[in-house]
Amino acid sequence: MSSSDSPPPLIIGDIVCDPPVVLAPMAAVTNPPFRLLCREMGAGLVVTEMISAEGLAHKGRKTLQMLDIREDEHPVSVQIFGRHPELMARAAEVIQDAGADMVDINMGCPMRKVVSSGHGAALLKRPDHIYAIIKAMADAVDIPVTAKIRAGWEDTNAVEVAQAIEAAGGAAVTIHGRTRAEMFEGHPDLAAIAALKRHVGIPVIGNGDVRDVESARAMMAETGCDGVMIARGCMGYPWVFRELAAAFQGAPVPAEPTLEERRDVVTRHAALYVETYGEVRSVLELRKHLLWYFRDTPAEGVLKRRLAGLTSMADVYATIDAAAEACAVAAAPVVFARGLERHPNRRPSACST
Ligand SMILES: Cc1cc2nc3c(=O)[nH]c(=O)nc-3n(C[C@H](O)[C@H](O)[C@H](O)COP(=O)(O)O)c2cc1C
Repeated sequence: MSSSDSPPPLIIGDIVCDPPVVLAPMAAVTNPPFRLLCREMGAGLVVTEMISAEGLAHKGRKTLQMLDIREDEHPVSVQIFGRHPELMARAAEVIQDAGADMVDINMGCPMRKVVSSGHGAALLKRPDHIYAIIKAMADAVDIPVTAKIRAGWEDTNAVEVAQAIEAAGGAAVTIHGRTRAEMFEGHPDLAAIAALKRHVGIPVIGNGDVRDVESARAMMAETGCDGVMIARGCMGYPWVFRELAAAFQGAPVPAEPTLEERRDVVTRHAALYVETYGEVRSVLELRKHLLWYFRDTPAEGVLKRRLAGLTSMADVYATIDAAAEACAVAAAPVVFARGLERHPNRRPSACST
């Protein structure tokens, strides 16, 4: 792909994802408010936070609450973690009944507490077991079953894993080009993604350090992948999806948002939150998003002073205005960050696949 090409949509089963740009699954981040925002910005497919297959199969009340799919966010994929083929097939049925367009399996989470119970990246050690899981799920539902893997556990075995996924009826594979052992360090191994792409016929989504038009085009050109997935690059910077949507249509890449646009979008994110979760939870959870939106700007000081004392949505909206004002009156031009460079938790505990 050259620097000006418009790649075709990503087609998974019969679901068309246009542009071929995917919002990554992120625990405690890709809930309905953020997914809706990223779809509005132009993401071609959005993926939920990972949900326990066991909880879904047993219809646990709290787990079912996470299966909150909105009319305006399609196409949407629900990601599950688990390891028992039967339970995962039951979970896939619940997901299909809830109206999701696809179901994705987490085969990349590297955290000790996840892999020690045989979930996440631990599955990569057993391609035969991966085959059994995908086969059980694909036999149980009509929606596409996909998997998100890493390049391998310690050594790269992504081709073998992806071939098992395809042979069992998997409809697509996303690969984060780092092994489990590499966590988030170093550069993603684009050669591993390219090798996987050469060895399977199903669509391949490349993931790892895509954060702008240039890195997305480089990922596609160097690996031949059919779509790209973005995680850290959109945390506090959902505008990356509008940039990629424009570029992939052959249109000029829009300028980075003005301060006013930023304030409007952060306010919209907050409004979506309160509609979804009510005031108490929204006030608590929005704090991290505000810090991400205004990271490394003069607003950081304002936020740090005010965040601990927030008790109402009125406080949240006033804090967004105060943060924007701090940037507006700054003596020097404010340079905003484009997403996060690192995982937000110093020692990620939930999932950092
Ligand atoms: C806060 C956070 C939470 C994540 N949670 C998940 C998850 O639930 N499931 C998953 O497959 N990957 C998860 N990941 C990994 C991302 O989907 C992605 O594979 C990884 O961050 C590399 O992409 P990036 O370089 O665009 O960030 C998470 C990453 C972050 C930063």
